[in-house]
Amino acid sequence: MKLKNFTQLLLLSFFLSCIALSCVKEGPMGLTGDAGANGKDGSSGKDANETCKMCHTPAKVDLITTQFQLSKHEYGEAAFEEAGNTGCTPCHAQEAFKYVVKNNVKSTFTLNPSTGKYVNDYATIETAAYGDLGCSTCHSAIHATYGSSDIPSLTTVAPVSMTMWGGKKTIDLKADGGSSNLCVKCHQPRPFTNALTGDVQDYVGIAANPTGVMYDGIAENPNTTDKVRPSYRMHTHYGTAGAVYAGMGGVEFAGPLPYSNGTHTTVASCIDCHMGAKAGKSDLIGRAGGHTFFAKGNLTTCNATGCHSTAITATNTTFWLNPRAEIKKLLDDLAKKLTVNGVDILNRNPNTNEALGGVNLWAGLTTNNYDGYLNVYDPVTNTSAQTYNASSFKYVGTPPSSWSPAQIAYNATLPTLTLSNAQFGALINFQLILRDYSLGIHNFAYSKALLTNSIAKL
Ligand code: HEC
Ligand code: HEC
Ligand code: HEC
Ligand code: HEC
Ligand code: HEC
Repeated sequence: MKLKNFTQLLLLSFFLSCIALSCVKEGPMGLTGDAGANGKDGSSGKDANETCKMCHTPAKVDLITTQFQLSKHEYGEAAFEEAGNTGCTPCHAQEAFKYVVKNNVKSTFTLNPSTGKYVNDYATIETAAYGDLGCSTCHSAIHATYGSSDIPSLTTVAPVSMTMWGGKKTIDLKADGGSSNLCVKCHQPRPFTNALTGDVQDYVGIAANPTGVMYDGIAENPNTTDKVRPSYRMHTHYGTAGAVYAGMGGVEFAGPLPYSNGTHTTVASCIDCHMGAKAGKSDLIGRAGGHTFFAKGNLTTCNATGCHSTAITATNTTFWLNPRAEIKKLLDDLAKKLTVNGVDILNRNPNTNEALGGVNLWAGLTTNNYDGYLNVYDPVTNTSAQTYNASSFKYVGTPPSSWSPAQIAYNATLPTLTLSNAQFGALINFQLILRDYSLGIHNFAYSKALLTNSIAKL
């Protein structure tokens, strides 16, 4: 029995005993009356097993649960690592996600008058900051009625007020009943905040004034000038796919290309490509399809959904090899522009082996294996940086107490990084498209425009 029901039972028996006690005040009981006539037989109930079997069969819930083992929603470790963190768990933990949906928690930023800084309102409460991502993260009505309406009934398909904009922009992907909005609620970037105000960065202002200064290379204390302080971890968060797909989330510099979206944005949905071929075990291609949520290695969905009439394979030039090669080259070209005196601003990391630390989830997407972090010295968080980068930039400010005297002395010999608005915006755009992972498949037109215009601006 669920604890909640047990508590309800306790309350009920307490309530009943109160009624019994209150009888004491009344007078003595009268004689018992005659027994009434028997009631009519009720109609036969449904066999409970029958409704269970709508879902609990080898071909349905059992199979889906097995597929789900191959999903990073299930085997990823972030839900465990971030448990208790009210700001991270709305996207990383089941109970937190359900909490922000149910309570319609706003993605606004609010000024705290006592500190004079803005705070991010998009957070759960401590008692709901936990839970591995599981079936009821997305299907919050499981066992609500034990009837067919419980599934797939999704937790939310509402338009997504974007946290990175403090709620000033909304994503609404309408295909397939808005089911993509469920994915985007989590697969959207986190806000990039202004170090001076705590509010979200003004991407429009940055794009309009490329020569403006973001960071002057001097870390005043207290900070009165730096809108950002570059560090190894100055980055756009991993979940960029949803924003890129919707054609939002970049610093849109004016340039040779206009900003527009690919066809997928309006005609396709996340599930079209990520949950295809889900009828049975034999339809799983490797570890993709169905409730594995992986699109990688599964191009059958391009045709199965009735979208592309000719079969698309991994050797198709028009729809696969060429567009991806073009985006890869643009990422490589932009990285080349993001250098100072031959030193990369972006961090190189070819390491995909967790045991060696500093795993690069995006290794192979660029020629130099950038991981979207910055090449700013950090001997503690980024232990392998010195192995893969010829040189790095100085960490400016008071070095963390965990650094050794030798590390502090070495840091002092490194060149200082400054950032213009153009460099900062281009870094964001690089991180956004790299971490989207699809090399243009999600939204080719938008990806190409962001990268091309960033290159032109530098
Ligand atoms: C509409 C579909 C559906 C129906 C109908 C349904 N279930 Fe479930 N049930 C699920 C799903 C989905 C899960 C979650 C599976 C998982 O976590 O791997 C589940 C999980 C369970 C579990 C595991 C414990 C838990 O709560 O996670 C039990 C036990 C269970 N169901 C029993 C039943 C019984 C008994 C019935 C019929 C009275 C029934 N279910 C009807 C979909 C259904
Ligand atoms: C509750 C938030 C949430 C929802 C809703 C959600 N995801 Fe995720 N998704 C995540 C998180 C968090 C991860 C990474 C988990 C980890 O690494 O621990 C992830 C991982 C993934 C991955 C694997 C990425 C990789 O790097 O290997 C894919 C693909 C994916 N999700 C697709 C989807 C699709 C498609 C939907 C909608 C049907 C969806 N997700 C809905 C939060 C969510
Ligand atoms: C707005 C939603 C959102 C918030 C808030 C969020 N994340 Fe994430 N995070 C994601 C998604 C989505 C992914 C997976 C993206 C992918 O793989 O494409 C992810 C991936 C990660 C990963 C990589 C996991 C891996 O597979 O290696 C880590 C680590 C992580 N997040 C930590 C955090 C921390 C720490 C916080 C809070 C400071 C946080 N996240 C807040 C959405 C979010
Ligand atoms: C990240 C979100 C997400 C998670 C987690 C998730 N589902 Fe789903 N599920 C969906 C979406 C979206 C659909 C609708 C797919 C469609 O319409 O084609 C769906 C459809 C279904 C369906 C009906 C379609 C079918 O294939 O029969 C069942 C049953 C189901 N899910 C069971 C489960 C079970 C069991 C789990 C846990 C093991 C689970 N789901 C976890 C998103 C999710
Ligand atoms: C037109 C097909 C298509 C649609 C629609 C689509 N994706 Fe993808 N997505 C892909 C492909 C293909 C890849 C993997 C590319 C590869 O094989 O390297 C991918 C990769 C991803 C990844 C990274 C997975 C990984 O293995 O690291 C995430 C996360 C993701 N997509 C989320 C989404 C979300 C969220 C949506 C909806 C807003 C979406 N996708 C819509 C085709 C699609």
